[in-house]
Amino acid sequence: MNTDLVAYYKARVAEHEKIYLKPERQVDLAKASELLQGIFTGQDILEIACGTGYWTERIAQTAQSIMATDINDAALAIAMQKEYQKNNTQFAVADIYNFSGVPKYGALFAGFILSHIEHQQTSKFIKTINSFVKPGGIVVLMDNIFVEDSSLPVTETDGYGNTYQMRTLENGSLHRVLKNFQDERFLRDIIKGCAGNVEYFDLKYYWVLKYTVV
Ligand SMILES: C[S@@+](CC[C@H](N)C(=O)[O-])C[C@H]1O[C@@H](n2cnc3c(N)ncnc32)[C@H](O)[C@@H]1O
Repeated sequence: MNTDLVAYYKARVAEHEKIYLKPERQVDLAKASELLQGIFTGQDILEIACGTGYWTERIAQTAQSIMATDINDAALAIAMQKEYQKNNTQFAVADIYNFSGVPKYGALFAGFILSHIEHQQTSKFIKTINSFVKPGGIVVLMDNIFVEDSSLPVTETDGYGNTYQMRTLENGSLHRVLKNFQDERFLRDIIKGCAGNVEYFDLKYYWVLKYTVV
């Protein structure tokens, strides 16, 4: 059984976007796309952990520019093949924790990565991503809400309260994946002191958190 998150997403790359085909999530996905497109209109964005570019493709429609990054080159190869009509995207392999972030960006988008960060690493993660953004710039995080009958069950909780799922890929390989589900209170707490203009959007399957870096 694999327990390495990066290796899991490498192995999953060809089937990653099937998660976005779940029928019950389509209304939320359309709402989230509209919300993100509104927030990022005219912005110069750094996207971290962009994966196969599902959100890159949508955000690029209203952004000024996007630098889309991920640690996985195979995911980026798929992201690059999408159609970007404004020709406003660039792609780079980058590890969040080993990224120079120069120059600083006007906005940052991090979709579905916070849920894969251990609770005890969350402060470091927030500090790190904020350091990539200009003071006053926008940070947007988005992730899953646990919904019975749509989300995979949590199979394990560790001493820090981190939760794990067992996931099987189409090739039959089994992966133990860290997947935390944060609530609004937790999210507001982790950005306390380094964020202004905080807005929390609660959809059925997803939450979106927007703030400005102070
Ligand atoms: C759940 S996927 C999200 C992909 C995309 N944002 C989406 O919403 O479809 C998590 C992504 O985080 C990437 N990732 C994991 N650790 C990373 C790190 N340290 N630096 C950059 N990307 C990382 C994985 O390669 C994977 O593409």
